[in-house]
Amino acid sequence: MIENRLYGRDIISTRELDLSQIEQILQTTSALKAQPLPDLLKGKIIAHCFFEPSTRTRLSFETATLRLGGNVIGFSNDESLSIKKGETLYDTMQVIANYADLLIIRHRQEGAARLVADMTTKPVINAGDGANQHPTQALVDLFTIYECQNRLDGLALALVGDLKYSRTIHSFLEICTLYDIRLFLVAPDVLTLPENFCNLLKKKGVRFSFHQSLEEVVQKVDILYMTRIQQERLNEAENKKLEKQLVLTQAILANAKPNLKILHPLPRISEIDISVDHTPFAHYFEQAANGVYVRQALLALLLNKELPFMSQSS
Ligand code: CP
Repeated sequence: MIENRLYGRDIISTRELDLSQIEQILQTTSALKAQPLPDLLKGKIIAHCFFEPSTRTRLSFETATLRLGGNVIGFSNDESLSIKKGETLYDTMQVIANYADLLIIRHRQEGAARLVADMTTKPVINAGDGANQHPTQALVDLFTIYECQNRLDGLALALVGDLKYSRTIHSFLEICTLYDIRLFLVAPDVLTLPENFCNLLKKKGVRFSFHQSLEEVVQKVDILYMTRIQQERLNEAENKKLEKQLVLTQAILANAKPNLKILHPLPRISEIDISVDHTPFAHYFEQAANGVYVRQALLALLLNKELPFMSQSS
């Protein structure tokens, strides 16, 4: 029997996951994608606490919970909560922790998920906290890359767009340091990767370089990871200036490697022209579909000491 090293844990930041835990998540995702197990969350109540808008993360977590036989409580914004009467986030989550077996939280405040994890013994999953972390998205990205390229080591990835504020990029970079991955960082100067992440990449020996255009990198990479400009974190003038930069069109893909896949955590605004959707390179909707399987794996691992297929894996 393989030890489940995720049982009872929190998933707050990818920084807190080691290689063997990540491999366990990938293997569990593959197993659940190949063989659905509808009773893994039977009798469990999962609280889905979304204080910020979400389509994919919330609904894929709900689908994952229901497919594993669990029950959902929660909300998709704070309009109907007693927070509107002045109740604090701390008190609100303290109460919900007594109703549910596991808490999922998305909040605009950086560190909100950590605050909740520190107040309860129930497992907590960070579904995005401000510009800080979005660990489950990073795991979806990793699984999708592994699935479409059949490997992780030796790949070249371009990370494109808003490298400053994108929490999916920040979470994903932490995971990249665990593999032999070459990075091409493509962003306008004002949205370049923050210094602390550059220092992390240097410290971990990750090869990376900075670029201003997609044309510079498109022939060199196996994965083109596009992100939107985080409009909610910029003013109108900045948004207008930046939205037309780094738009991926079919023409730019003319010299792409045959195995290239384009990923995007979504939502897309205007950074990928819709004509790209019909090319063999587009893989972002498959990536979003994988969100259900990866989140099934996380819920199953956090809430089950043992899983049926663990004894079968190597
Ligand atoms: N990728 C992602 O987090 O999408 P949502 O904001 O729709 O959940």
